[in-house]
Amino acid sequence: MKTIAVINMKGGCAKTTTTVNMAHILAKDYGKRVLVIDNDKQGNLSKACGVWSYDNLSLADILTGEAGITEVIQTTQNPLLNAVPANMHLLTANLMVIKDEEREQAAILKNQLEEVADAYDYCIIDCPPDINISVINALVAADEVIIPIKIDGYAFDGMDELEEQINNAKQLNPKLKLRGCLVTMFYNRDVCRQGEEWLQNQRYPVFKTHIRRTEKADEVTFTNESLMEYSPRSGAARDYKAFVKEYLEV
Ligand SMILES: Nc1ncnc2c1ncn2[C@@H]1O[C@H](COP(=O)(O)OP(=O)(O)O)[C@@H](O)[C@H]1O
Ligand SMILES: [Mg+2]
Repeated sequence: MKTIAVINMKGGCAKTTTTVNMAHILAKDYGKRVLVIDNDKQGNLSKACGVWSYDNLSLADILTGEAGITEVIQTTQNPLLNAVPANMHLLTANLMVIKDEEREQAAILKNQLEEVADAYDYCIIDCPPDINISVINALVAADEVIIPIKIDGYAFDGMDELEEQINNAKQLNPKLKLRGCLVTMFYNRDVCRQGEEWLQNQRYPVFKTHIRRTEKADEVTFTNESLMEYSPRSGAARDYKAFVKEYLEV
């Protein structure tokens, strides 16, 4: 199983959209067995996968040791796609994990994922826009990091801090690699083109494919579908397919 953390310190840069669509494409087009993990208390990924609930077991229970991962994993409409949901309980769980110095705080998720490593080809962890102990757990469990970036004046804020966190996590997880930045919500104007060019000249790897901005991305959040199902011909849906192809080829 390859584990990918989708992360950026900024909100609204398409972390969840990228996780949902990458997972669906890997499952539908490539027949891969995929586990997605919602690591954001907002539960957007859980809602997109139709598994959100305030009462069911969730990532919070895995982190606090209340439940094992196999009890928490839920099935979705796609038989190859399973999900670990999250909800607001993740907030308290993070505080509990930090206080409990007797446990290996940063490796809880990694240890739990080892139990299901043979059941999935890919595990994609959708992170929140900050760094807390559940995000550090994601970085310690992951093989690779993907950073979705929406080009605007604030797009690169927090990149140095994120890089520092990735480097810190490498002490516990030497295999961790920044696989690439993915430009999202791209539109064909100078600001986007120049921002993308600037990013390509920095020290971070950048995927060649960018994801075009499309209205359908907002519409789809009112459904339990991915863009692939809701609007397969939209620019963003086609770009996500090209992105996954590039991801698998490189
Ligand atoms: N390619 C896109 N084009 C237009 N809007 C998008 C695109 N990707 C995502 N969005 C919208 O941007 C908002 C933030 O996306 P989301 O994936 O929730 O970001 P994050 O998880 O980083 O906070 C959502 O309203 C989503 O519908
Ligand atoms: Mg999100």
